[in-house]
This record gives sequence, structure tokens and C-alpha cells, in this order.
Amino acid sequence: MTDSFPRTPPPGGNRPPFDPARITRARLLAYLSPQRFSFAVTVLSGIGAGLAPLALLSGWSFLLTAVWGTSPMMESLLPDWPRPLAYAALGALLPALMLVRGGLVALHRQGLFQAGHQILHGLRSDLFANLMRQSTGFYQPAKTGELIQLLFHQTRLVQSGATRLLDAATLQATSVLGIVGFLLLRDWGYAVGSLLLLCAALPLVRSFRERTRQTAATEEADTAAHVRATQEVLGGIRLVKTLARERSEQERFLRADLRTLAHAAQGHRATALTAPLLASLAVVGLAAGLVYAKLTAMSPAQFLVLNTALAALCPPLRALSQTRSQLEPMLTACAKVFEFIDRKPEVCDAEDATPLQQPRGEIILSGVRFAYPEAPQDALRDCSAIFRPGRVHALAGWPGSGKSTLLSLILRFHDPRDGSISLDGTDLRQITQDSLRNHITVVNQDLFLFRDTIRNNILYGRPNASEDEVIAAAQRASAHEFILDLPGGYDAVVGEPGCILSGGRQQRIALARAFLRQAPILLLDDTYFSLDPESEQKIEAAIDELCRGKTVIAIPHRLSSLLKADEIFVLDAGQIVDSGRHEELLARCEVYRQLCERHFRAPDLATPATMATL
Ligand SMILES: Nc1ncnc2c1ncn2[C@@H]1O[C@H](COP(=O)(O)OP(=O)(O)OP(=O)(O)O)[C@@H](O)[C@H]1O
Ligand SMILES: [Mg+2]
Repeated sequence: MTDSFPRTPPPGGNRPPFDPARITRARLLAYLSPQRFSFAVTVLSGIGAGLAPLALLSGWSFLLTAVWGTSPMMESLLPDWPRPLAYAALGALLPALMLVRGGLVALHRQGLFQAGHQILHGLRSDLFANLMRQSTGFYQPAKTGELIQLLFHQTRLVQSGATRLLDAATLQATSVLGIVGFLLLRDWGYAVGSLLLLCAALPLVRSFRERTRQTAATEEADTAAHVRATQEVLGGIRLVKTLARERSEQERFLRADLRTLAHAAQGHRATALTAPLLASLAVVGLAAGLVYAKLTAMSPAQFLVLNTALAALCPPLRALSQTRSQLEPMLTACAKVFEFIDRKPEVCDAEDATPLQQPRGEIILSGVRFAYPEAPQDALRDCSAIFRPGRVHALAGWPGSGKSTLLSLILRFHDPRDGSISLDGTDLRQITQDSLRNHITVVNQDLFLFRDTIRNNILYGRPNASEDEVIAAAQRASAHEFILDLPGGYDAVVGEPGCILSGGRQQRIALARAFLRQAPILLLDDTYFSLDPESEQKIEAAIDELCRGKTVIAIPHRLSSLLKADEIFVLDAGQIVDSGRHEELLARCEVYRQLCERHFRAPDLATPATMATL
């Protein structure tokens, strides 16, 4: 047992090279170290239960010898007792021993369950904690399934493997050692012969088991693909229906289902054949044993005792060989789980980072260069800019010019490769990430709502806000009135019957969340949504109010929004090529002129409703 081995590596520390044996020995045990007493009880009760068959076999042998012949020990132990009564008294010892063994096994199993549970819970919490620490670049839709699999399936594999390993190393190993020792002491010739026969049968059993394992692996892979494809179809159900592909999807589902079931049946056949095969081998062994008994003039009592011992040897042997086959998937799962637990986030808090206190909101970029990991070229190059409190700044540029990247650097989702970004004169790297983001409100297209009450969805912006503040935020986002009309009002659960919200209403709730944050910096990305005119007008007015008095950096998608900005920064292929007001830029910046002509459409100017934004 080790508690010197950390469950998670020290931040920024260099990890030793990955070593599966080290993991099983030390890192998994580290999850059990808080409960070392219950762990010790589990180990000891396992060893005790493993040794119990030895006592049972000895008692059984004693009794049989006494029944079939004369036992000097019986004479000395109970000299004056009538024989039947003496046998009954000794016979009663066996169920008593069985009871003790049963108690020890139960204690051991309960301990194993707790240990497995602790490992599972520890792994899952470490995994999830590190998942939460990762920078946003890490999360991609394609990775979600893999992460869910890691969190729920791989950890279960580790849990079951670890408990089996613990069981094998204590109860099963002690049982095998005890019984083999007993057999050797009673009749080493019979013992060696039977063990050789068992060893000869092992390759046969193993080949059957290997077949079962392979079909199980194929079945698992098939099921995973089947689940993934079904998830995709359900996620894209609108497309399926629009293109009238229901029937073909149904056929695809049935085909995949039949394939999975066929593999399951193959595995079942292999398992079903193993038992009769082993029974036949046992009969062969018994016949050979009878020949040996005849040749050595073995007593019936001795024969019965030896075969009882051999029968008792089979379950722990089977458990040990199954553990061996489980070890590999468990180590693979361990490798994946620990690899992720050890994964360092792209952005970490510096050791001397301090929390941000009431910032004014002046953001200065000086010579910022940034490239995404594995990207061939820089997403931002030599960017310098000043974003001042109380002013609205707009970023304008062709798709891919680096506008969103610039906002994510301000949020410290990534750090610049060169140059720096400061807030009120302090480099962002010297500020704790939590406190920085607590002073920034982001409004973008991902206005995600949880399947929770409207109140909790708004409170997600600032969980300690009062009821009055929630209502005030909803009023400012023009959401209060329609929320009151919903059955349940603020307690209505988003997505449930009666609370299926239109896009515009969802956005207004998300805006109420933004109002509640009261952060001095506001980042607006992709805030153009195709909505009904009423919602659009209300949202624009709400955003207008949200911008007031803050450092606003917006990525507008309408010319009307650009016109309202105090300063526009023009980005071209990751560089800020110019900045100023609309008229100035139109007069001197070719990129900007082309953007206005081709990207920001002129008809937009003609819609009075869209003029009010920013
Ligand atoms: N996660 C990523 N990994 C690698 N490259 C990325 C990633 N995100 C963006 N890029 C690249 O960085 C560059 C800038 O992208 P960014 O999303 O900042 O542009 P944008 O101006 O916001 O574009 P749009 O107007 O389409 O939203 C692009 O070349 C893009 O392909
Ligand atoms: Mg973008």
C-alpha cells in the first residue's frame, strides 16, 4: 500500500514514463489508502476464507477415516462417547466451519465491493476534474463520445479488473496454495498426476475462452458502432425526416442489431460448449484416479477426500485463469484513464497568479502571435490593440481572419505564443483563470440552456444572485413577461411540455443570464440570428443595454452594428491591418471596403429594425 504515490501528478511536474505494472501496484492502491483499515480487513478475510477449505478438508478427512476405519485420534478425543454420537458431534463441526468460511467470504466480497467503488469514484472524480480543467480547444463534438466512454465504461473496466485482481491475489491464490499443499501431503503421487492432467486440459479450455473473448470484443465493437450510429440518427432526426429516410434508417438499425446478436450467439455457443467438455475431462481423470487407487491399495476414505480436494481446487483455479484474461483489457483501460488524468491543460494558472479585483476593463494587446496546436500557420500575427472601458469595439474581417481566436485569447482559452495581453496593466497570465472569466460576459451563438428550470438557467450566470436580481435581469432581457406566461413561470423546466421555447425566447433567457453576471467586459460573437422581427428587435435592444458602460468587443454581422461601434479593427489573415471609424476606414482601407461591399450586405442598412443594435 502506498500513499506516497499521488493520485494525480503535481501541476507542471514531469511524469515518469508510463508503466502499466507501476499503475496497478501504486496508483490504484493510492485510491484505497484513505480506507486502509477496511482494505486490511478485506485482504485478511480473503486469506482466511482461502485457508478455510484446508480446515474443511482436514475435518472431512478425519471424519471419513473415522467412519470407514478406526481413527486413533477419535478414540483419544472422545473415548467414552457412543460412536454415532461422536460422529454426529464431529460432523456438526463441518457446517460450523462452512458458516465461518461463508462469513469470511461475505466480509471479503463486501470489502471488494467497497474497494472497487472507491476506485471507480476516485477515477471518475479525477477524470471529470481534469476534464473541467482542459482548455476549450480540447473539446470537440467528435471527442464527446470518447470522453463519455472513458468516464463511464473504461473506469468500470478498471474497477472490475482491480477487484478481480485483489480477489485473485488473496482468496483464490490462498485457496489454490492451501488445497495443492493438502493434496501433496496426503498423496503426492495422486496430486502430481491430477495436476498434470489439469495442466494438459488448460490449453483446450483457454482456446475456448479465447474464442469467447474474441466474439465478446467483436460484439462490444459492434454495439459501440451501433449505439453511435443510432445516436447520430436521433440527433439528426429532422434531416432524416426531411429527406424521408426513415425506412432506410430502420433497415440499417435492424441489420446492425442482427449483426450484434449474431456475435453474441457465437460467444454463447463457445461458453456453452466449455462446461460439457470439462465434465468429460473430469470423468477421464476420475477413471485414471480409480486405476491409481487400485494399484496403490488406496482406502475409499482417502479416495473420497482426495477427489473432494480436487473438486474444491477447480473454482479458484478457474477464477485465477479468468483474472489473467481480464488483466490485459484492464491494463489498457488503466492506460487510457491515467493518460487522461495526467493530461496537462493547454492553459494553467501560474503559481504566482492572483485573483482579479474589480477591473476597469482596459485590455491591451501588444504584438500578439498565436497558432493553434498542429496548425500549419499562425491564426494571429503581430496584433496590437487597445480596448477601452465604456467603448464599443468591433472586429471586422473575412471568415477565418482570426476574430473568434482573438476573443478566445482574451478569455485565456489559449495563451499567445509571442507578445502579451494585459487587463488594467496586468498580464493575463498573472491572473487566475476563474477570476478573469468571472469578469467577462460572453454572448455568442452557443446560447446553451440546460434541461433545468428557467430560474436555474438564468442563475447559472451568477449562482448567488437574489430572486429580485433574477427578475430584473429577465426584465432587461425582455424575457420576464413570456416567462410569467409559461406554466410554472420561473420554475418551468426548459425543454419539457409547456416550456418548448422558440429560438428567440431561448436567446432572451440566455441574455438574462448575461445581464445577471454584471461583468465589466462584454464579448459578443456571431450575435446575428435569423429570428422573427419582434424577437430580433427585443434582443437587439437588450444587447444595446447590455453594452452600456462596458468594454465591449463585438464581432458584428451587420453593417448597422458596425456603424454603431466607436472603433472598428480590421483583421486580414490574422493581422490587424487598420482601425478607426467606419467612414475613415471606408476612405483608406481596401480590405474594409471590400468587406462592406461583399460581406456586410447593403439591404441590411435599409431595415429600420436592425439599426438599433450595438
Ligand atoms: N480549433 C482550431 N484548431 C486549428 N485551427 C483553428 C481552430 N479554430 C480556428 N482555427 C483556424 O484559425 C484561423 C482563424 O479562425 P477564427 O475562427 O478565429 O476565424 P474567424 O475570423 O472567427 O472566422 P469566422 O468569421 O468564420 O467565424 C482559421 O484559419 C481557422 O481555420
Ligand atoms: Mg468566428
